[in-house]
Amino acid sequence: MCGIIGYIGTNENTEEIIINNLKKLEYRGYDSSGICLFDNDKFYVHKSLGEIKNLNKNLNYEIKSHCGIAHTRWATHGKVSINNTHPHLSFDKEWCIVHNGIIENHLDLKNELLEKNIKLYGDTDTEVVPNILSIQKGTILQAITKTIKKLDGSFAFCILNKKSKDTLFLARKNSPLYVAKNKDEVLASSDPVCFGEKFEYYYSMPEKTICVAKKDELTFYDFELNIIKVKKTKVSVFEKSATKGNYNYFAEKEIDEIPYVINNIIKSYSATNYFKKIDCNFLQSVNNIKLIGCGTAYHACLMGAKYIQEKTNIECSAYIASEFRYSNPHIDKNTICIFCSQSGETADTLLCLQLAKQKKAKIISLVNVPYSSIAKQSNILLPLCAGMEIAVISTKAYNAMLFVFYMLSLHMQSVLKQKKIKVTKKLKRLSKANFFFNANYIDDISNIILKSEKVFFIGKGEDYISALEAGLKLKEITYINCVSLPSGELKHGTLSLVDNKSIVFVIATKKELLSKNLASASEIKSRGGNIILVTNLSIDETSLKDIDFVYYFDKTVEECSSMLCIVPFQLLAVKTCLKLGYSPDKPRNLAKSVTVE
Ligand code: G6P
Repeated sequence: MCGIIGYIGTNENTEEIIINNLKKLEYRGYDSSGICLFDNDKFYVHKSLGEIKNLNKNLNYEIKSHCGIAHTRWATHGKVSINNTHPHLSFDKEWCIVHNGIIENHLDLKNELLEKNIKLYGDTDTEVVPNILSIQKGTILQAITKTIKKLDGSFAFCILNKKSKDTLFLARKNSPLYVAKNKDEVLASSDPVCFGEKFEYYYSMPEKTICVAKKDELTFYDFELNIIKVKKTKVSVFEKSATKGNYNYFAEKEIDEIPYVINNIIKSYSATNYFKKIDCNFLQSVNNIKLIGCGTAYHACLMGAKYIQEKTNIECSAYIASEFRYSNPHIDKNTICIFCSQSGETADTLLCLQLAKQKKAKIISLVNVPYSSIAKQSNILLPLCAGMEIAVISTKAYNAMLFVFYMLSLHMQSVLKQKKIKVTKKLKRLSKANFFFNANYIDDISNIILKSEKVFFIGKGEDYISALEAGLKLKEITYINCVSLPSGELKHGTLSLVDNKSIVFVIATKKELLSKNLASASEIKSRGGNIILVTNLSIDETSLKDIDFVYYFDKTVEECSSMLCIVPFQLLAVKTCLKLGYSPDKPRNLAKSVTVE
């Protein structure tokens, strides 16, 4: 949620450097953006609504500054407006800040300021902060520590003070912040993805720390102002992989990368035994497994729970992270909690992980971003090896999640049954599958969606989970309202919506459930609905009498069909989105990394 940048250097193109890096954080929010350049003892603040390209258009390149901060916003408190756009200045214009996170006690702090006759111009939780900074006595660092100790919630700040030219003050608690230094420049960012081009190393600011950054020096402090040592991290290929290449959109590129991701997982897991700690000892006395995630990662958890329960016979359930914490979950040392997250920063998932740790559960995490909070706080990390995913819709990371869950289920089975299960052959066959088989039909199917008034996705078992994910992809980027449900549930209410303006996708990948799915299809046909069957099964013509169109996807490795059958739906969502003239990378109202509860 929100991206922040801070920069100091000798380069005269400070605004260009800042904006170019801010664009790399646009996946975190794009409701509005703003920049403050610090020059000749003045703050030059510029803001605009919508994507960062709008900010770019109106910049005054006359200002020759060496230091600045910037922000791209995903609105939480206060509507999308210029007043609510960061950076925020204090009433006396002495402080200027950008913020990622939520100040939970901002209303109390607002009242404190009002009592001192300090009025705010917007409705954000952030605006109290520069003003509270301004009323503190003492040095700049003392003012910062006194202020942050007053704040409840989460924050990553880049702060400028008029009396301290060419110095950037950074602080974080519960929100990520990274900083990198070269010979004569410093860049701070919400994501190390910004460091890929120019920096060799970066520092991941530890929880509850402050950093004073000058162009040739970084000093880290804890909140008591004791100097602390922070280890540097080498910038890896992961941070460098955030380019679109020849594609117009990241979403298109990321779907195309799916076969490569599967190969990459096989390669990485063959080179390193990530399952090593999941041994007899670890699995001994486990009586239940809980899988936890949000959005697409939650759908992957639903699938993972099916894979693991089937292979281990241990009771497995999947939970939506934002619900889990408030459901008084039964967790103890005999519970395994598995957390699944592409970004590794989703606040709801992270908070569940901390709760599970307190309750002494055994923790495993599936995470894509290797330097993320969830990755760092997990005892056993199973990397997703999907490379940077930028588009807000999660595609290749979902396939990676399913694949790693599947490998985990096979590993657990082999540990519990105490026999080696030969998995490599099967996995390798999947890596050779044609994920884009029959993709040339997607264009026609997207035209059918555009002509329909109502869209439904149905399936049974694993196919119901694919129906959920297929529906989420479509609604996220096309804004078409659609319904996903188990085939058998249709007749218990939703069938009343079906008419001749409806298109129903029936997903059927399991032979033993085919007849049930076809029965649901007949119920739809009798109400005038149009049916597209998505399958990898060989079905005789007579059974297809009620089906309008059959979309066959690759048959390779039946057991792994859920990993293949989602791809046409990912392509379909992107195709339909582009036809409607929207961006598949930046759907309205959403952000890729949701770091607030
Ligand atoms: C956001 C994204 C979704 C994603 C969800 C969970 O809502 O827009 O695409 O599935 O967060 O994200 P995570 O990074 O934890 O997988």
